[in-house]
Amino acid sequence: MNKRPKGMVIAIDGPAGVGKSSVGRTIASRLGYSFLNTGQMYRALAWKAIKEGTDVSDESEIARMAGRIKWNFKKISGPAIKISVDGNVLDKELSDEEVGKVSSAVAKMPQVRKFMCSMQRRIGGCGGIVMEGRDIGSNVFPDAEVKIYLDASARARAKRRKMQLLKSGLGADYSRILEFITARDKQDTLRRHNPLVRTKDSFYIDTTKLSKKEVIAKIFRILRNINVKVRNNSARKAAF
Ligand code: DC
Repeated sequence: MNKRPKGMVIAIDGPAGVGKSSVGRTIASRLGYSFLNTGQMYRALAWKAIKEGTDVSDESEIARMAGRIKWNFKKISGPAIKISVDGNVLDKELSDEEVGKVSSAVAKMPQVRKFMCSMQRRIGGCGGIVMEGRDIGSNVFPDAEVKIYLDASARARAKRRKMQLLKSGLGADYSRILEFITARDKQDTLRRHNPLVRTKDSFYIDTTKLSKKEVIAKIFRILRNINVKVRNNSARKAAF
């Protein structure tokens, strides 16, 4: 059954703001796996398009640009794979609101999705990776050994986001955040190509009333049940 003897692919999908990254990074770190946030790849492409003034509604041009870019994926510290685009290691710039908006537009384009999906398969092909996004279990790795679908009500996600912003000393308007999250849900689930779906073979976790610690405990229970050795240090790092 296991085509990746040196480590599994753990796919985590779910809507925006549900905590996929924070949970995924911790799981990866405890397993000695790599962690990839695939949304950052769409954001990186959006960042480049904005920087170059490329027409973000022109699918062929955006897809050509994606192919021209020198992509680099590297772990710098910890499990997270950092993305660099033509030599620029991207981090905070990917959280920019405009970058987020454009990333949604480019993520709808089938040629772009095909390109990203093939890079994601190359990065995770050897296993030993936790990969999060919207279509990891349904499209990128339909044969992933473990598929987790994290969910939470839009209100709970908006509340968490508000707390995060307040903690970082930033202003936060709950109604605006809720509106934004609801719009993102619509975009992600109604998209024609590789929309966010909950696959039948995924483990569904409703995190609305759970803390991060409780979600992680649930995932480790799932992993133990399917016989994964926690702290499996023989896990091979993803080859890329
Ligand atoms: O998770 P995020 O907000 O950083 O993702 C940025 C955009 O990319 C968002 O519009 C959803 C999209 N996305 C996607 O279509 N498929 C993925 N596997 C990951 C993200």
